[in-house]
Amino acid sequence: MLCIQILEEETPIKIMEASRELYQLLSLTSGVDEQNSNYKHDLQTASGKAIATLWAAMCIIDFLRTQRFFRGIHQAVIDSKQKYPGEKINILYAGSGPFATLALPVMCLFSSDEVSFTVIEIQETSVQCLQTILEYFDFQEYVYVLIQTDATRYELEKSKKIHIVISETMQHALEKEPQVEITMNLAHQLDDETIWIPEYIKIDASLMNKKKDDGRQMGILPSNKSSYINLGTLFNLNKKCAKKLFKNLSEFDKVQFKLSEKNVLNYPCLVLMTSIHIYGDQYLMPWDSGLCAPRIVADLSNYNPMPEQVIFWYETGSSPGFHYKFLYS
Ligand SMILES: C[S@@+](CC[C@H](N)C(=O)[O-])C[C@H]1O[C@@H](n2cnc3c(N)ncnc32)[C@H](O)[C@@H]1O
Repeated sequence: MLCIQILEEETPIKIMEASRELYQLLSLTSGVDEQNSNYKHDLQTASGKAIATLWAAMCIIDFLRTQRFFRGIHQAVIDSKQKYPGEKINILYAGSGPFATLALPVMCLFSSDEVSFTVIEIQETSVQCLQTILEYFDFQEYVYVLIQTDATRYELEKSKKIHIVISETMQHALEKEPQVEITMNLAHQLDDETIWIPEYIKIDASLMNKKKDDGRQMGILPSNKSSYINLGTLFNLNKKCAKKLFKNLSEFDKVQFKLSEKNVLNYPCLVLMTSIHIYGDQYLMPWDSGLCAPRIVADLSNYNPMPEQVIFWYETGSSPGFHYKFLYS
């Protein structure tokens, strides 16, 4: 019921309350305990950090994120059922955390004859908690298989059609966690028809004025647009580009921007902005969620001389993220 409430509710405070309640319920049911250090170990992998069970559980509380993913995934299942009448919709969920949070509304609203999940999670304690959750809510029959493995290396069963892929294994500016490598590994194994959730994750470079942003947050400025100016897009992660990157990592472009003195004086903070198209009409835009919080790169008011240009590039590996270099004449 709480899942449906989060899916349908329009009032932000009520979405927040329902998300907190759902977190409490699932924590109690699975035994995820905020005081227990066993649930607080991040796992460092060759493609980034797999966050600890407790932090993955707490993602629910990022309530607009949770609601918009719920809505996008719900719509994707409805659209897939229409496109493939009579077929069971197979969903691959990479990085489920301890609750498979993003799958729960689908399990509540559709029958196990209509949908089936392949669930991948690398953290052992999260897999154990998820087994408890699935048993408790009688959701085992929705799960074709639950595998504790690394989604950046996982080889899909060739004979099984996957209609939808869900993965939210990211932090803002696509740093630290392995969203990019997971998308690369899975996209190259699937056809162009597969729905990806999120459809795309776009990173822009911007110049921001923190004082104007404080004003915006306090409601003094009406629109967030005036607290920053966009320099341009650095990277748009989607299934097409992930396939290309799998074949050739050098497809990561280096992107260069001019830093005009006038703009830097008015907007001195160089930041990375994250926007996410989940599916259909569901988006997360800068400031909507922790995933889209501006990532501060540098406060240019501290620079003398002021850089004239900046070059950005993305690197995968154990500490994924953007790197940058300033250029001076
Ligand atoms: C940000 S949490 C999201 C949890 C949940 N899907 C949600 O949206 O609330 C990401 C999850 O992905 C898992 N993960 C990270 N890297 C992974 C990998 N390479 N293979 C499988 N799971 C991974 C983490 O352990 C964590 O549970």
